[in-house]
Amino acid sequence: MNQNQDILLEVRNLAKHFSAREGVFGRSIVRAVDGVSFCIRRGSSLGLVGESGSGKTTVGRTVLGLHRRTAGEVLFNNIDIHALKAEQLRTLRPHFQLVFQDPMGSLNPRVRVGDAIGEALLEHKRARADDVRDKVLEVMQICGLAPEHYARYPHEFSGGQRQRIGIARAIALKPELIVADEPVSALDVSIQAQIINLFSDLKEHQGVTFLFISHDLAVVEHLCDDIAVMYLGQIVEMASKEQLFSQPRHPYTQGLLSAIPIADPDQRRSRIILKGEQPNPANPPTGCRFHPRCSFVSEKCVKTAPELRTLPDGHQVRCHLA
Ligand SMILES: Nc1ncnc2c1ncn2[C@@H]1O[C@H](COP(=O)(O)OP(=O)(O)OP(=O)(O)O)[C@@H](O)[C@H]1O
Ligand SMILES: [Mg+2]
Repeated sequence: MNQNQDILLEVRNLAKHFSAREGVFGRSIVRAVDGVSFCIRRGSSLGLVGESGSGKTTVGRTVLGLHRRTAGEVLFNNIDIHALKAEQLRTLRPHFQLVFQDPMGSLNPRVRVGDAIGEALLEHKRARADDVRDKVLEVMQICGLAPEHYARYPHEFSGGQRQRIGIARAIALKPELIVADEPVSALDVSIQAQIINLFSDLKEHQGVTFLFISHDLAVVEHLCDDIAVMYLGQIVEMASKEQLFSQPRHPYTQGLLSAIPIADPDQRRSRIILKGEQPNPANPPTGCRFHPRCSFVSEKCVKTAPELRTLPDGHQVRCHLA
């Protein structure tokens, strides 16, 4: 078997820059995503984590073709989706879907939930008028929604159930890839676990591949096979979940991990407190972009930007000290 057949999504040197207004007359370039590369194996899930403003959503939206790229490639099943004509991209769309933080934003308050889930099935001719209801009920059941929910309206649901509706809409077309952007951030902790379990089931039983975006490492720990940590538009560390949690190499990842509460005192990690805030991506620091916040900063870090290096165990890290 060709090795590439195992890779569903490959992102190569992706960049997305925005032009932003600065002051009254000036404009600046916001390097929201600045040379990001990763692969996701079919049926696996990659967690993309980092603080607010690190570029996670911009990666997700550019991967789905919802933002035009500035540079780089997004290969879905070896096809560069940004090189496709609009019509070709439209036919590919059902294969990759977005689930986001607040599904209310995408649900029409006047459309019954069952009809909202069925819309895409009819539009893409995956169901006929006479069998769409059965197909919708099947998807609702997979997502833990009861048949009587079919005829209700979005406002009648709790946050967790609304997220189940958002997920049902996304999986109705049987997508190969789901980009989930902070899908549980707005939910109570107990409900978060239920929704994460639903994602796990979809991965195990429906073979869905995930790019799972969260600012919270604890959320991606359960679901993801691999984790990429973003800082100021770049990946600073990427490894299997086990490697990243047991041996975080980048001081930024160590800081993010220290912030996760751990009940067992034997397992408590030495605490690295992240000081300060992420700088403006329109004006990133010289050298290593993390250096102004790093406890281990040296002269080299101020002058020279580190490359993302692959260590012998496959762990990738962008740090002079690792
Ligand atoms: N349409 C846009 N125009 C200009 N700047 C943008 C635009 N979208 C995002 N940005 C900027 O790009 C950077 C990355 O934003 P992005 O939303 O991708 O971050 P994020 O990691 O998803 O953050 P959060 O955790 O808050 O969702 C930020 O500085 C943001 O202000
Ligand atoms: Mg975001």
